[in-house]
Amino acid sequence: MKRSDFPPDFTWGTATSAYQIEGAVQEDGRGPSIWDTFSRTPGKTPGGETGDLACEHYHRYREDIALMKELGVNAYRFSVAWPRILPEGRGAPNPKGLDFYDRLVDALLTQGITPWLTLYHWDLPQALEDQGGWPARETAYAFAEYADLLSRHLGDRVRHWITLNEPWCSAHLGYLTGVHAPGKRDLSLAVRASHHLLLAHGLAVPLIRRNAPGAHVGITLNLAPGHPASPDPADVAAAQRFDGFQNRWYLDPLFGFGYPLDLLELYGKVTPPVEVGDLEIIATPTDFLGINYYTRAVVRNSPLGPYRFETVTAGQEHTAMNWEVYPEGLLELLRRLSREYRPRAIYITENGAAYPDAIGADGEVHDPGRTRYLERHLTQSLAALQEGAPLKGYFVWSLLDNFEWAEGYSKRFGLVYVDFATQTRRLKASGRWFRRFLREAVARP
Ligand code: IFM
Repeated sequence: MKRSDFPPDFTWGTATSAYQIEGAVQEDGRGPSIWDTFSRTPGKTPGGETGDLACEHYHRYREDIALMKELGVNAYRFSVAWPRILPEGRGAPNPKGLDFYDRLVDALLTQGITPWLTLYHWDLPQALEDQGGWPARETAYAFAEYADLLSRHLGDRVRHWITLNEPWCSAHLGYLTGVHAPGKRDLSLAVRASHHLLLAHGLAVPLIRRNAPGAHVGITLNLAPGHPASPDPADVAAAQRFDGFQNRWYLDPLFGFGYPLDLLELYGKVTPPVEVGDLEIIATPTDFLGINYYTRAVVRNSPLGPYRFETVTAGQEHTAMNWEVYPEGLLELLRRLSREYRPRAIYITENGAAYPDAIGADGEVHDPGRTRYLERHLTQSLAALQEGAPLKGYFVWSLLDNFEWAEGYSKRFGLVYVDFATQTRRLKASGRWFRRFLREAVARP
């Protein structure tokens, strides 16, 4: 599997998100986000770690772009911190916040790296959470205002827009299990949040298109095949429920099929607050579907919880997140999406793995597990492409080791090792492998 096996116009990138790398949380007028509040709440992250400093990318972005250049990627997926642009969530923009993304985008373009902008990667302005957060319909309208403002500002230079990253995480981890900000635990809040996130996406798409002519607009979902732990019909049904919960709840309305009936039945009285016209707005056609793929789920029936399934550990190989390495799941997913949902294009907007990396005696970071993980997933991506999946690009998660949410800094996903005490960056062996991989086609006669 070589780069030249992929189409010459294939997008090759690395991905990050604002709160995970920027730091500078109190600089230049940025307002607080739900992650500032959550990470400062005792017990929410290991040792109370926060994104206060993270990778100091806010100040070191030029160095980080130089690393991308060194890797040879042609695209960079980053997110904009909504509270940097609108410290109160709505109202007058913060000029210094806009300036930062101007500088970032301009520096990327100067280096020939295409900016892929995600509008929302979980850092809701705290002021909006105080007014009800995603369970409140108004937040969807606030998001549309923010998308309008930012696309008016950057639409002349940014052609690739992702509205939301992984709304499943915002809704379910944020409002049901409470392991992510804002840390609520209530199924009805989670279901309401998921609907308003999807509505926010649908409201934003035409605004971005209007403000950024020729833009490609899409959404990123974290999807995973769900496999039954045994052939027992109860486990098979549990896997179906998992699929509804993780995948179909988002895919179906986005592609015009409405919310899945089996899940609506399961939720009973807890219904999404759909108003007339919402489902049409949510199903506004997009230019691409972004998917983040890490692993599959193996599930069995369980009497517990609203979904009545539990995941079980399967397979032999696991990453530091204890996620099974299961590259075949990516092919399975790409096949299914192509067949059942027919998106115009698919981009793998995240794929990668955490390993317990350390600097060796030779001063290098040897991470063969990550290289192997990436190679195996690219092999499956290529197989999907050869079968006709409309796959157009692939982004490694992540460029840098960074703040891994509820796991703090304990989990390293980067192609680049970050020493958080000194902020020095060092290409890992996997980063050197990716560089060689990307250079191969360029060197072709
Ligand atoms: O770090 C996260 C990212 O923010 C969203 N997708 C999954 C990654 C790894 O957990």
